Amino acid sequence: MITRKSKREIEMMHEAGKLLARCHKEIAKRIVPGVTTKEIDVFVEKYLAEHGATPEQKGYNGYQFATCASINDEICHGFPRDEKLVKGDLVTIDMVVNLNGGLADSAWTYVVGEPDEKTARLLEVTKTSLYKGIEQAMPGNRIGDIGHAIQQYAEAEGFSVVREFTGHGIGPTIHEDPKIPHYGLAGKGPRLKEGTVITIEPMINEGAWQSKMDDNNWTARTIDGERSAQFEHTLVISKEGPIILTDQDHLED
Ligand code: MF3
Ligand code: CO
Repeated sequence: MITRKSKREIEMMHEAGKLLARCHKEIAKRIVPGVTTKEIDVFVEKYLAEHGATPEQKGYNGYQFATCASINDEICHGFPRDEKLVKGDLVTIDMVVNLNGGLADSAWTYVVGEPDEKTARLLEVTKTSLYKGIEQAMPGNRIGDIGHAIQQYAEAEGFSVVREFTGHGIGPTIHEDPKIPHYGLAGKGPRLKEGTVITIEPMINEGAWQSKMDDNNWTARTIDGERSAQFEHTLVISKEGPIILTDQDHLED
């Protein structure tokens, strides 16, 4: 069932989203050579606690951490760990914040040190593909319009789109209907309605789109060992256009 949120629910999710966006800005400062994703995870949990929030992922289907931290060829749901990040590593930090029952979900890919040209292009295309998808998140459009826009763009740029993991409705739990594939056909799927809150979170690969699952049954990585990047926002479908609840660019102060 695809739900539509009340004004009050959306406000609560927006508060969670702003906190999540601020937390990502703090993470950005901490992604340096020598830091571990375990340290980032501990930082996030502490930051959220200090701001009256909790990491919704911890305990979700038995997941043990506050964040997912996916390095290089890991596509998503990497476990935070004690390995030190080195210059040139790509790391995606994904997290769901719960603030007074309002949820928001946002992933961001960081590079350790300055990106080389190839890395900068992967990040640029992945982020742009997210915004191409967001542009389509309008009442009356169909779910397929989102995936189509992302796939068209990313493939034209020479990258591939992961199929096994999708965006999703969100609130009151992390994964609600509908699924939002990042590939597909324009004009297909259910129509989007005002008040529905979804995530869009394209995972874009340098090589093939296929993934394989690690023995831990959580972490997906590329089959060819090439790298993957991901940017994710939580947004509300509205008449005035999509409202990004996890926007990092327009935070006051
Ligand atoms: N944004 C991630 C997703 O939708 C959040 C994962 S929560 C986890 O897959 F607990 F499943 F890791
Ligand atoms: Co998500």
